[in-house]
Amino acid sequence: MRNRFVAGNWKMNLSDSESKSLAEKIAGHSYAENTQVVLCTPFLYLKDVLEATSGNAKVAVGAQNCHEKDAGAYTGEISAAQLASAGIPYVILGHSERRTYYKEDNALLKSKTDAALAQGLQVIFCCGEVLEEREANKQAQVVETQLQEALGHLSTEQMSKVVIAYEPVWAIGTGKTASAAQAQDMHEMIRNWVANQFGAAHAEQQIILYGGSCKPGNAAELFAQKDVDGGLIGGASLKAEDFIQIIEA
Ligand code: PGA
Repeated sequence: MRNRFVAGNWKMNLSDSESKSLAEKIAGHSYAENTQVVLCTPFLYLKDVLEATSGNAKVAVGAQNCHEKDAGAYTGEISAAQLASAGIPYVILGHSERRTYYKEDNALLKSKTDAALAQGLQVIFCCGEVLEEREANKQAQVVETQLQEALGHLSTEQMSKVVIAYEPVWAIGTGKTASAAQAQDMHEMIRNWVANQFGAAHAEQQIILYGGSCKPGNAAELFAQKDVDGGLIGGASLKAEDFIQIIEA
């Protein structure tokens, strides 16, 4: 039985006081036994959100990115080593917005994943196809290449610290969700890839999230799919009531 896992990706949203109040509301709620919630906040708010959620063992905190080097002259960047030193347990890597706007490719994401795992962080690794790739029916090939090139070299032990988030790029922030059947198809493909690389026993344990316009109204159907273990939630994670409803789904 895999844990249920719901991560909120706040992106570049909320003020300092709004972020504290959202974290307090989410941490003030109690969640079912096998549930893990992660709030992925802007770097600036990580320590305050860590503090605000410290009373609820089911709510953890994550960054949305990290640098691949431990330290050095990289103005404006934050390293995995720095996140680890601040007690931050999770980091999102490979989000489609990082891939598109900051030109992060699979080779760079491989280095970032290695840096994060070496520091003891757990990685929420995003993959997903763009609309043209879906229309050309290339989604499986695209996602498999993303996984293979960034995660294919890991040991099974390292992979046990990685959560995979499948996010079709055409569904992110667009209001267009993948149908439950489309999500299940891709999650099954991803679990098969994990089984081939890391063995069937590991694949049974692998957490695979769906992301892309997941909301209170569609979460239950998506999460009911056999290979969907939870979600990576953008817009709907900014409102405590919506996010809690999604977690409860
Ligand atoms: P969305 O974003 O839920 O707003 O579509 C998901 C994500 O980008 O992780």
